[in-house]
Amino acid sequence: MIPLSLAEVARVTGGQLAGVADPAVLVTGPVVIDSREAAPGSLFAALPGTRTDGHEFAAAAVQAGAVAVLATRPVGCPALVVPDVQAALGQLARAVVDRASNLTVIGITGSAGKTTTKDLTAQLLETLGPTIAPRESFNNEIGHPLTVLRVTDQTRFLVSELAARGAGHIAQLCQIAPPRLGAVLGVGLAHAGEFGGVEAIAQAKGELVAALPADGIAVLNADDHRVAAMAARTRARVVMFGRSATADVRAERVRADEAGRPGFTLTTPAGSAPVQLRLHGEHHVTNALAAAALAAQLSMPVAAIAAGLSAAVARSRWRMEVTKLPDGVTVVNDAYNANPDSVRAAIAALATMARGRRGFAVLGPMTELGDDADRLHAEIGADAAAADLAGLIVVGDAAEPILAGARAVPGWRGVLQHVPDAAAAVGALRGRLRDGDVVLVKASHSIHLERVALALTGELPLDGDTGSRT
Ligand SMILES: Nc1ncnc2c1ncn2[C@@H]1O[C@H](COP(=O)(O)OP(=O)(O)OP(=O)(O)O)[C@@H](O)[C@H]1O
Ligand SMILES: [Mg+2]
Repeated sequence: MIPLSLAEVARVTGGQLAGVADPAVLVTGPVVIDSREAAPGSLFAALPGTRTDGHEFAAAAVQAGAVAVLATRPVGCPALVVPDVQAALGQLARAVVDRASNLTVIGITGSAGKTTTKDLTAQLLETLGPTIAPRESFNNEIGHPLTVLRVTDQTRFLVSELAARGAGHIAQLCQIAPPRLGAVLGVGLAHAGEFGGVEAIAQAKGELVAALPADGIAVLNADDHRVAAMAARTRARVVMFGRSATADVRAERVRADEAGRPGFTLTTPAGSAPVQLRLHGEHHVTNALAAAALAAQLSMPVAAIAAGLSAAVARSRWRMEVTKLPDGVTVVNDAYNANPDSVRAAIAALATMARGRRGFAVLGPMTELGDDADRLHAEIGADAAAADLAGLIVVGDAAEPILAGARAVPGWRGVLQHVPDAAAAVGALRGRLRDGDVVLVKASHSIHLERVALALTGELPLDGDTGSRT
């Protein structure tokens, strides 16, 4: 981070120094919320956890080198006492952004694909200059400021992932690190239950472009009408990306190879170049185009963008992660999370990958869908059957409507099985899988269905799994 003295930290957070011998001591980072990650120069932010209170680890953090603790009460070691540690983290992050001399902040939001797009964008921009991007999905009121606090005076680009669970969240994240470029990927049904419907989600995602300055750039998905309509909510210049012929940055001649990896001609106002992604699933075309549009606006030549996208890898785990096993079975672990759009995208990718072979889907519940949950699960079942999968294994009670949806598709003769948990799903697959089969595993994060994929790849033993495959 850009170093700040404890006195400056107190000033920007409105905090009181407590037990600090020398207010001139510099915080150089990292700023951490886990005392085990504290190092010399650190600031430890004591947050209330669900099981423990961060304040209890203040001494351990200081022992590990933290110069002070951001806390809501004196903790017996050097501290900055503030009314709200989370808010103080945001204020501190903003102070760092304001002190950065050569920083361009890029915000990315959308219902699905934020992390993937963030990872792709970071891999492009890293070739232009020092780039900071979040670890994993550090995209909320805690993860976002922690990411921003990694900015140094050398940092040229900050690529931030912005998530919302309600109105006002993205606007708040944008205050912590005001973006000059903002990309909106799509408005889908992720967290629809919490938001109260898709229009409310569109309203919330649009806060990103509403926050952009007049000399900013709004990068909008032309293929999603709710996103395209956000052009009316921004002062910034608008750049459209998508498959539509009207998009400024678009993919032409999209095709997928036998592993479901899309290739296309990237077309921009500055020229065209061929791209062959290493990511699986045609839905990644959208993410790649958003990254391309951002990089193009930051003066990256189209040939370099195309080469960068073609070389880019999935940096975050369990998103369409493909493992080919020695016995010829291919496992697609997409169990990081699930909502109707991403399940549909994954089923489409599975169908491509399993062309001429047998495709199996292990699908668990999609959470946080509110009142429409049963109907949305049933629709997914119908999609899976319509994709002519060889088998559909449905995991858990909440996913049960998937069964009825699949059964309602006339003429589908695949195997349909309902199992209670991950171990039973592995058991159901073991006897069935054979050389050439492709298995997709997907559900919402809290179900931890990645255990099925990890059991198949041998990375994790699973209770009740006998390990035999016939
Ligand atoms: N454009 C897209 N359309 C539909 N599904 C997508 C798209 N991009 C990614 N996905 C799928 O959505 C899931 C999550 O992807 P990713 O982690 O990139 O999204 P995210 O928006 O960061 O999610 P989260 O809100 O959990 O942070 C993965 O299964 C991925 O394959
Ligand atoms: Mg994410």
